[in-house]
Amino acid sequence: MTSAHDPVAPHDPLAPPTTDRFGTPGTPQATRVMLLGSGELGKEVTIALQRLGVEVIAVDRYDAAPAHQVAHRSHTIDMTNGDEVRRVVELEKPQVILPEIEAIATAALAEIEAEGLARVVPTARAVQLTMDREGIRRLAAEELGLPTSRYAFASSLEELREACEAIGYPCLVKPTMSSSGKGQSSLHGPGDVETAWNYAQSGARVAGARVIVESFVDFEYEITLLTVRSVDPDTGKIRTDFCEPIGHTQERGDYVESWQPQPMTQDAYDSARSVAARITGALGGVGVFGVELFVKGVDVYFSEVSPRPHDTGLVTLRSQVLSEFEMHARAVLGLPVVTTMASPGASAVVYGGTDVEDGAEGVGFTGVAAALAVPEADVRLFGKPSATEFRRMGVAVATAEDVEAARERARLAAAHISVVP
Ligand SMILES: Nc1ncnc2c1ncn2[C@@H]1O[C@H](COP(=O)(O)OP(=O)(O)OP(=O)(O)O)[C@@H](O)[C@H]1O
Ligand SMILES: [Mg+2]
Repeated sequence: MTSAHDPVAPHDPLAPPTTDRFGTPGTPQATRVMLLGSGELGKEVTIALQRLGVEVIAVDRYDAAPAHQVAHRSHTIDMTNGDEVRRVVELEKPQVILPEIEAIATAALAEIEAEGLARVVPTARAVQLTMDREGIRRLAAEELGLPTSRYAFASSLEELREACEAIGYPCLVKPTMSSSGKGQSSLHGPGDVETAWNYAQSGARVAGARVIVESFVDFEYEITLLTVRSVDPDTGKIRTDFCEPIGHTQERGDYVESWQPQPMTQDAYDSARSVAARITGALGGVGVFGVELFVKGVDVYFSEVSPRPHDTGLVTLRSQVLSEFEMHARAVLGLPVVTTMASPGASAVVYGGTDVEDGAEGVGFTGVAAALAVPEADVRLFGKPSATEFRRMGVAVATAEDVEAARERARLAAAHISVVP
């Protein structure tokens, strides 16, 4: 399949990609990228790719997903079905596949990569390891020796009782296959175990699910360290760069606010970069990684990592010279990136606040003018076809001279916007 016209020729998945020639969308020699998952993060990645003249095919499990609306073509399939994933890949023949969500048939991705049909970003193995809390935790703690919370795994209520005794209270229980806080609970004593088991089963991607028990880390603050692996134009080798740390607050296992930079001591920042370099180096490939870390004094604990742009990184739409989406687009094409921060900034999520069903009327927003009247504020409305109370429908971002002022502005801008039927 390798030819002079393959803009990103698939080969050894760990070798740096090269793009010598960019094609034109709609022509046989187009540089084609397929997104598996077409949410708000994928929408921004799509826009960034299109600015580089890339043909983008967006795939999701429902119609009119955010990235569907800005891609050249879109497909609606069950992405957990390996046959369906293969069918769209064979139909569209992308050179690059960007898995944007975790619930994907990763075995099919591994085959596609092994057969050289397309480059999977960052690698099929990285996607497989990070979709499973057990895979990434064992890699981080047992193979790399990174500091993490204490942990144990359980596949039944009985095993969970034992695991919780071994870890101690307070602890957290999470399905190994879940994201966005689904099925997670905090446990304060043995009386909480059965409820936690049942709740984990309801929030997991599959029934009869395995769970992880984690000791509660009493952190001072948590950060996302955006870490970018890209081809160094001087050496042709992969280099690793770090953004300024992003602080954030979480509610219901979902991010509510984020800001950049999160103040850190030099020692803590050095440790954070070292942890991020080791985990992303072990995962390999190119692109943006969102390394989630807990910080307590000089101690930095690895929590988890997204092998793709991170929701808390939406702040970089305003705070950096290149947003995390632009950095990802460049890195996956073998192009150089810069991770420079332009200004302190913040983001605040706009939730649905109410239920609006998918239908003829669609979702409406009020207060956008007032939000944009906040100094240095900007807004992204994702265009999702329906809303629920805690569905993320948009985000406000803002810059200011310092993080506190930026957070105030982002919060204010977000608060002006209401979702209406
Ligand atoms: N062991 C822990 N100790 C203390 N707090 C924790 C621990 N694990 C998770 N949390 C808190 O819960 C949040 C969500 O946890 P985690 O990132 O594991 O969930 P998730 O479902 O993968 O969420 P997302 O997909 O949004 O990243 C963390 O950002 C942190 O605030
Ligand atoms: Mg997380």
